[in-house]
Amino acid sequence: MADEKLVVRNVYKIFGEEPERALDLLKQGYSKDEILKQTGQTVGVQDTSFNVHKGEIFVVMGLSGSGKSTLVRMLNRLIDPTAGEIYIDGDPITGTDMENVRKIRLTKMSMVFQHFALFPHLTVAENVAYPLKIRGEDEKTRREKAMKSLEQVGLAYWADRPPSALSGGMQQRVGLARGLCAEPEVLLMDEPFSALDPLIRADMQKELLELQQAVHKTIVFITHDLDEALILGDRIAIMKDGWFVQVGTAQDIVSDPQDDYVAAFTQGIDRGRVFTADWVMRDPIPLDLQTDTAETALKKLDDNERDGLYVKNGNETAGVVTYGDVAHAFSKGETDLKRILHTQYPTTRPRTLLHELYDPCSEGLPIAVLDDDGKLQGVVDPSEVFSMLVPDTELPSEKQARQQQDQAGTASAGAGKAAAQA
Ligand SMILES: Nc1ncnc2c1ncn2[C@@H]1O[C@H](COP(=O)(O)OP(=O)(O)O)[C@@H](O)[C@H]1O
Ligand SMILES: [Mg+2]
Repeated sequence: MADEKLVVRNVYKIFGEEPERALDLLKQGYSKDEILKQTGQTVGVQDTSFNVHKGEIFVVMGLSGSGKSTLVRMLNRLIDPTAGEIYIDGDPITGTDMENVRKIRLTKMSMVFQHFALFPHLTVAENVAYPLKIRGEDEKTRREKAMKSLEQVGLAYWADRPPSALSGGMQQRVGLARGLCAEPEVLLMDEPFSALDPLIRADMQKELLELQQAVHKTIVFITHDLDEALILGDRIAIMKDGWFVQVGTAQDIVSDPQDDYVAAFTQGIDRGRVFTADWVMRDPIPLDLQTDTAETALKKLDDNERDGLYVKNGNETAGVVTYGDVAHAFSKGETDLKRILHTQYPTTRPRTLLHELYDPCSEGLPIAVLDDDGKLQGVVDPSEVFSMLVPDTELPSEKQARQQQDQAGTASAGAGKAAAQA
């Protein structure tokens, strides 16, 4: 597909002398631990397939030893896969000669590591331009491009200083600038922020997101930190024992963890910073100021189980009425909605995070979700916001067991009925 930058198909990496034997056992269903015990071979990555879309940040998150570095290094063939295929822009990276791989690395992909060494005898700018030197670009071009990427990471001022003049966080920025300098289409980032202290790390995450708004790279970002994954990832893959347990958006993963392992990770996270207004918004079902009365409004509120509804006047949103006000008006025989209309009401945007809605929620009115043109897209009930913040206490394994039991229950009930009819 045109918008697939990277395509990864069934890749495996076995470390050891007899990868074939380990592969065989893997395919028979043996676990990483069992294979290590039986053969001494280490399963780095097993049967992993995914696509990375052009322009997205694809995060691979997992504990230490889960295979993240092995996977990302296979993408540019710093590590050769034992089996499987990898393509960039539809062209194979696997099964092609190293000359071609080098060309791809120099022109299309850059890698940024957690502990990457700056050359102490080169200036910051020379360090940044180093990949261009390898590529054979002239000095003037190298300087220009180095300055541009140093500006992108806010370090232009330090261009002619030695790396030793910089703090750890700044040195990590230089690493990023070096990654950007070759103007790659794909950035591979292996725990680039993991060694930084939390405040600097949060800054770097923010900056990476801002930078990405400007440069639109395709980024594969590795982290062992779920919070970092949730902040950065357009999509996140959760890795365990060399394979992907689950791939999805932050909202997908937190709302529906695939197994207890993923659920355990997601338990403690701040859900108000994961879910957005559009995740909880409901159909607005607007009332019409001209034709609806207290009576019809009350019926719509009841039928749709709403605490309030927005009212339109032609194409404009006129305001919002609450259940209490409508019921009161109806009991007194009033019909007109104008008198009970709240013309001041809270509004938000579809992509606003729920934690930013706590204040507007306190007004007790449904929040209007407006698009770029101010058009009413939906409404968010305060109660929906607060119930979304509470994690599911049922583990995925318990849920599965319950569903199986339910199914078995209906099946045996059905069988009983059939027997009774016979
Ligand atoms: N060069 C190697 N030789 C043998 N085993 C390795 C090698 N590199 C990684 N491994 C093993 O492969 C597995 C995945 O490692 P790695 O990809 O480094 O994980 P992560 O980056 O998620 O911490 C681990 O069990 C690790 O011990
Ligand atoms: Mg690693």
